[in-house]
Amino acid sequence: MSDTTATFTPRVFSGIKPSGGLTLGNYLGAIKRFVDWQEAGTHQTIYSVVDLHAITVWQDPATLHAATREVAAGFIASGVDPNRSILFNQSQVSAHAELGWILSCVARVGWMNRMTQFKDKAGANAEAVSLGLYAYPALMAADILLYHATHVPVGEDQKQHVELTRDVAQKFNHDYKVDFFPETEPVIEGPATRVMNLRDGTKKMSKSGESDMERINMTDDADTIAKKLKKARTDPAPLPETVEGLQGRPEARNLVDIYAGLSGLSDAQVIAEYAGAGWGRFKPALADLAVEKLAPISTEMARLMADPAEIDRILAHGAEQARAVAEPILRETYRIVGLVRS
Ligand code: AMP
Ligand code: TRP
Repeated sequence: MSDTTATFTPRVFSGIKPSGGLTLGNYLGAIKRFVDWQEAGTHQTIYSVVDLHAITVWQDPATLHAATREVAAGFIASGVDPNRSILFNQSQVSAHAELGWILSCVARVGWMNRMTQFKDKAGANAEAVSLGLYAYPALMAADILLYHATHVPVGEDQKQHVELTRDVAQKFNHDYKVDFFPETEPVIEGPATRVMNLRDGTKKMSKSGESDMERINMTDDADTIAKKLKKARTDPAPLPETVEGLQGRPEARNLVDIYAGLSGLSDAQVIAEYAGAGWGRFKPALADLAVEKLAPISTEMARLMADPAEIDRILAHGAEQARAVAEPILRETYRIVGLVRS
């Protein structure tokens, strides 16, 4: 762990793209942990619906607008409290785009070329994707560094991007001979930082998979949640006696991870409770647990989404608070770089 963060206000920043509905992966890998940071009370917590990131791939405008509110509702329904955390959507705080440009002049093309998520998303089509998709990690660095965030809770797939943020901060500090940006820590903790597809345990659960049965959406009702978990693919063997026994069994590991993530237990504790159990016992227990934890959230999301004006009011207030933190940092960045600003 770097100690350069020691001189900075302890501050958490993280974001989620409104590029579709929220999944159980977003909940366990991100939102639930955002709430834990808020509850711990050790850090100021700032969470964003990162709509500027969403448009790196095509988004229908009306759908994007609705998804921005839906992700905000998902945060609030899960326990992010707009009175204790700053909650806003990225495009309302223009400092993100401004710092994003400056940091894209610090980041190197060679660094972007190493980003595995870009390679996965662009596939064979790398010449035809947007320039924004390629430069995305520079904007993500700006999101984080704009608040001098010291800690960034994310799922495993974002580790490389947060590490790149550290490289950007280091290069900026080095080039301008300052000690201005912190070396942010990625925080990838807990049993469910990589929730897998319910139909194929080797693929990540994502918003965009083809079949709805492969993911749990945060808007799914109790019956749908239970049905999807009971139909989740597994191998025929019972649960192992030890965590090591999950090796080479991706579907079994995933369901154990989900149980652990939802219950707050470790994988070892879950295995201790269900050692040798067949799926006929474990799956209904998992379905009950998931319904108990997730159904109230989907009900609350529906209630919040019925009042979009209230969500907009919360986001506008959050944007004002975010600007207040960001503005002095952006202003100082301009000064360091030699840009003239009134
Ligand atoms: P995204 O939906 O891609 O904007 O992701 C928002 C956050 O959710 C990031 O911190 C991701 O790492 C996390 N996340 C997305 N999918 C998963 C998953 N299947 N398992 C764990 N975390 C995830
Ligand atoms: N890139 C992240 C994702 O796809 C979302 C994101 C954008 C983010 N800016 C961020 C996450 C800043 C953490 C901090 O999941």
